[in-house]
Amino acid sequence: MDEREALKEIEKLRDEINYHNYRYYILDSPVISDAEYDRLFKRLVETEERFPHLITPDSPTQRVGAEPLGEFKTIAHTIPMLSLNNANTPEDAREFDEKIKRFLNTKEDIEYVAEPKLDGLAIELVYADGIFTGGSTRGDGYTGEDVTLNLRTVKSIPLKLIGEKLPLLSRLEVRGEVFIPIKAFNNLNRDRGKKGEPLFANPRNAAAGSVRQLDSRITATRPLDIYCYGTGTIESAKFKTHFEILQALKRWGLKVNPLIKICKGIEEVIKYHEEMEKKREDIPYELDGVVVKVNRLDLQDMLGALTRSPRWAVAYKFKARQETTKIRNIEVGVGRTGALTPVAVLEPVNVGGVTVERATLHNQNEVDRKDIKIGDWVIVQRAGDVIPEIVTVIKDRRNGNEKPFKLPSKCPLCGSTVIRNGAIHYCTGGLSCPAQLKEGIRHFSSKRAMNIEGLGDRHINQFVENGVIKDVADLYNLNKENVTGLERWADKSAQNLIEQIEKSKNTTLPRLIYALGIRQVGEHMAKVLADNFSSLDELMRTSYERLMEIHEIGPETAKSIITFFKEGHNRKVIEKLKKAGVKTAVSGQFGAPIQWMGRVSSLKDKQFVLTGTLSEFTRDEAKELIENLGGRITSTVSKKTDYVIAGAEPGSKYDKAKELDIKTLNEAEFKRFISS
Ligand code: IVH
Repeated sequence: MDEREALKEIEKLRDEINYHNYRYYILDSPVISDAEYDRLFKRLVETEERFPHLITPDSPTQRVGAEPLGEFKTIAHTIPMLSLNNANTPEDAREFDEKIKRFLNTKEDIEYVAEPKLDGLAIELVYADGIFTGGSTRGDGYTGEDVTLNLRTVKSIPLKLIGEKLPLLSRLEVRGEVFIPIKAFNNLNRDRGKKGEPLFANPRNAAAGSVRQLDSRITATRPLDIYCYGTGTIESAKFKTHFEILQALKRWGLKVNPLIKICKGIEEVIKYHEEMEKKREDIPYELDGVVVKVNRLDLQDMLGALTRSPRWAVAYKFKARQETTKIRNIEVGVGRTGALTPVAVLEPVNVGGVTVERATLHNQNEVDRKDIKIGDWVIVQRAGDVIPEIVTVIKDRRNGNEKPFKLPSKCPLCGSTVIRNGAIHYCTGGLSCPAQLKEGIRHFSSKRAMNIEGLGDRHINQFVENGVIKDVADLYNLNKENVTGLERWADKSAQNLIEQIEKSKNTTLPRLIYALGIRQVGEHMAKVLADNFSSLDELMRTSYERLMEIHEIGPETAKSIITFFKEGHNRKVIEKLKKAGVKTAVSGQFGAPIQWMGRVSSLKDKQFVLTGTLSEFTRDEAKELIENLGGRITSTVSKKTDYVIAGAEPGSKYDKAKELDIKTLNEAEFKRFISS
């Protein structure tokens, strides 16, 4: 490819990718699969890598973030970003309407645009000839911080506008609210909790913190989104109404809230407000009210602005969702993964129409950071799907009788030892703790663990709820009588399940270790352990020091393994598993010569890539086989690849292998190869 061809290819790919981004992020209606999209994207990355001087800032590849800044520059807004006056009741809204009519000297109904008021961070985007050139926060309304690099990473902000009238738009300033959807916020906080990082108090703080990050690579990992609701300077374009502007923004590829509506007269606005407040719980992002704007731009001009806010708009708020109450007690919940969560029991309080009696305190770190004590007066907050939580302690109201709180050292449900891993405390009774039982069985029986086919979530729930299974080993005590005694079980299906359970006894050591669900021991670690210990017994007898001698094992993992096997409840279950006949020394699947100790290491450190479809193995099986023999699977072919295994209809990886002169094996050759 010469440079001219490269440029053509790059432009074509960028247009295609921009279009698919638009379908996916703005319209929420993709027209290609993720895999196809990934292929296009990869092709663009590769072509740009070969011709780096053709990379431009508006390329879809340039969203990953850049080197951290020392500080933000400031940017002056060409038109100030004002804030809004508040209305709290229908009377307030009517008063706003009357003032407008008085000012305009009219008795006619005013046409308003009613918009959901998102609770995020106000920003301004600048486009020059349709290309995103800069973005800033609202700041004090006159100057904001230059957060261009950060906004560039937000997928729903187009780096290039689309649409036919663009050449006319030399400079376009778009205003909008950057936010984090509630579900994404909950996930973000859950991950931060796991890593021991302080949690964000609410989605707004998370959005603001993410946009005002000096390291845009961090911003790129945050699930930010945007809705645009207006403009600043807008050259060479004439509009009559605010609603027309919103339609134009949409046509240019910017994201505009689909819930925005034209309302004729204030009574329609009040109805809209009522509807939105009802819908509030079902909307996937935080709203704190409705913004009401006079639609006609000439009327907006006549109305003008006061210093702080325009006369032609108002923020018609929803009921507050923060209240003051007292912590009666702190209880401890055990989640399905064994994580202990402190939960505050509150004096019941009505928060925005819902009675709140409990609030999550997340973990011990959060209790300590907020200095929460039993008996404290606190501010609680409830927001959509967000679990009610304590925002702050009102320390002035303390009387000295407040009691500090620490999570217990034994699980309140099963009495097993509690260990701390980062910010989270866990119960170690994974094989028998009632809170963890369903999840434990699900993991134990899963495909890559004991591989018990036909044991679905529905069955697990039924067995646990009917008391037929009290720990994972009870699976092996199931018989036709006690299964068919339950609802919805016929002879034949019970028989099938019992056969599958029976079959699972004949397993491999790595699978068994993985199945136990020891914290920190995933599939790979289970293999490492199986490489170093010849049996489960030997592993159970090992010491912390011995584990630490193994290259891949760190102190957290070693501690977790030791605590797991020290726990009496777990040992009992393992004893039961052995008694039931679960193999603790078997050969691998497919008759390959795999033993637990002294495993054949013919593939040691060899790198494999799989392409096409194999007839006798699934991808997972082939992967397991190779890894059990010491090899590694990677997803892309490079010079480091040793073998490419090509099944039926191999893809481009096969061509790449040929190009790089890497040995390829067909299925028959692969089978011979692993059994040689
Ligand atoms: S219009 C002069 N529309 O609310 C018009 N603001 O206090 C000013 N907001 O700073 C803003 N959704 O952060 C407008 N649909 C919407 C909005 C909205 C959220 C925020 C924005 C602004 C604050 C107003």
